[in-house]
Amino acid sequence: MTTGATTRIELTVNGRARSTDVLAHHTLLEVLRDDLGLTGTKECCLVGECGACTVLVDGVSVDSCLMLGVEAEGLSITTVEGLATGDRLDPLQSAFLETGAAQCGFCIPGQLVSARALLEAVPHPSRAEIEEGLAGNLCRCAGYEQIIEAVALAAERGEGGDVRRAATPDVHVASTPDAQVAPQ
Ligand code: FES
Ligand code: FES
Repeated sequence: MTTGATTRIELTVNGRARSTDVLAHHTLLEVLRDDLGLTGTKECCLVGECGACTVLVDGVSVDSCLMLGVEAEGLSITTVEGLATGDRLDPLQSAFLETGAAQCGFCIPGQLVSARALLEAVPHPSRAEIEEGLAGNLCRCAGYEQIIEAVALAAERGEGGDVRRAATPDVHVASTPDAQVAPQ
């Protein structure tokens, strides 16, 4: 529904049905960070070069700075806040901690989301496949070796995990950001 300059969209974010009013020119990144309070997804180049804004859209990794928010109508979005289950980290998050993959940490949400997409598609990737899977994610701290090591470690443990794609009953919670319950 379009009201004035905004359009009401219904989407699923991290397994929760969400409804929010978005400006026509706002990107999915802006909707996630500014409208829904999910600031784990990072804003950086805004031109699809760095991967800091990577999220899963119906299970496919996407640069959210390149997608309009209104295009997310009816889709299922997974952000870094949706990887953990309650207080249980995603196996990739545990592996990143173990290998010291996070340095300044700015690129890590995008790296984790891309790695999750990779392990969903290729549960036991080769080093070359890991490099290719994360090729769209830049790390200014140049922690690539530890990041690759972490993804290999999670894969070795056979902890591919699962991406929650199913919608939950519809709830209008546009004014209740996930940020209140999720780490940033
Ligand atoms: S902020 Fe989207 S790719 Fe860099
Ligand atoms: S850990 Fe600093 S940019 Fe990647």
